[in-house]
Amino acid sequence: MSFPEVKHVPILAQEIVQSLVEPFSQSSLDSPSCWLVDCTFGGGGHTASFLKAFEATPALRRHRILALDQDPEAVQRGKLRFQEEIRAGKLEILQENFGNAGHLLAQRPVLGLLADLGFSSDQLEDRSRGLSFQWEGPLDMRLNPTQGRSCLELLQQSSELELEKILRELGEERFARRIAASMVESRRRGQLPQTTKDLVDLVVRATPPYARHGKIHVATRTFQALRIAVNEEMEMLDRLLQDVVTRVLPCGRAAIISFHSLEDRKVKNQFKNKDFFHALTKKPIEANEDELRVNPRARSAKLRIAERLPV
Ligand SMILES: C[S@@+](CC[C@H](N)C(=O)[O-])C[C@H]1O[C@@H](n2cnc3c(N)ncnc32)[C@H](O)[C@@H]1O
Repeated sequence: MSFPEVKHVPILAQEIVQSLVEPFSQSSLDSPSCWLVDCTFGGGGHTASFLKAFEATPALRRHRILALDQDPEAVQRGKLRFQEEIRAGKLEILQENFGNAGHLLAQRPVLGLLADLGFSSDQLEDRSRGLSFQWEGPLDMRLNPTQGRSCLELLQQSSELELEKILRELGEERFARRIAASMVESRRRGQLPQTTKDLVDLVVRATPPYARHGKIHVATRTFQALRIAVNEEMEMLDRLLQDVVTRVLPCGRAAIISFHSLEDRKVKNQFKNKDFFHALTKKPIEANEDELRVNPRARSAKLRIAERLPV
């Protein structure tokens, strides 16, 4: 099987290695072998930098990486790209939703954990997923296309109030009511959008002319809201923070990169809980100018790191 080359560029990779891996570089050579968990493997960019850091430091060579991704294609591609490391026992890649990862982690000694939320550039540019308003594609939006409802099914099955709530709460879309009403009206006429382009046209028609040409594309917030709803991203983040990071991570560090304020607020609030965490970042770490020049996608990334206090 062949896959297109990975395009995704890892964000804040150096800062993440420094905070998750380097604290262990002085540990004694006979301390037990542990796992570093990459909850969002994607194109394997962060995993590759962990492997490199482990290889470069004798005290770290006995540790291993457990990488998870809900996307079967990302996992298949990763298994090809990292076949040597997998064979050598340095890396395991599993198709798993991080919201369900508690049981996997409970059975292993864990050094630390990374979650780089959202979707990868490769997923965004894969037109068959319908994640981008820039290209025509089916209205799917699932990061794991084998599970759950597609965006089209969500539009078919949700009430007007539910759609309005999704657009307002998950997209902070000020014209949520008008767009939701237009979706339901198009459904009544048997003309629901079937493709990303149809959805963009619907959003443009439902938005007053004076608001169609702002700083961001007029459909940005609708696409964000529907993608978050389709993939249950808020629910999975809650489960990651509560069931995995708080209940299962025995000690060690958790690093989470989020891309919008709803996610960042959840991470910040959880890391504030002094019964469980010592927050290492009072303010989130953001990409510097040099990184932004090569990776504009890093613009909205916010990295928060906390140390899980021993129970
Ligand atoms: C921003 S990308 C990660 C990129 C990766 N850090 C790299 O450097 O290549 C996010 C990845 O997380 C995956 N993902 C998103 N939500 C997930 C979840 N709830 N469980 C598991 N994987 C998830 C997506 O499928 C995507 O591949």
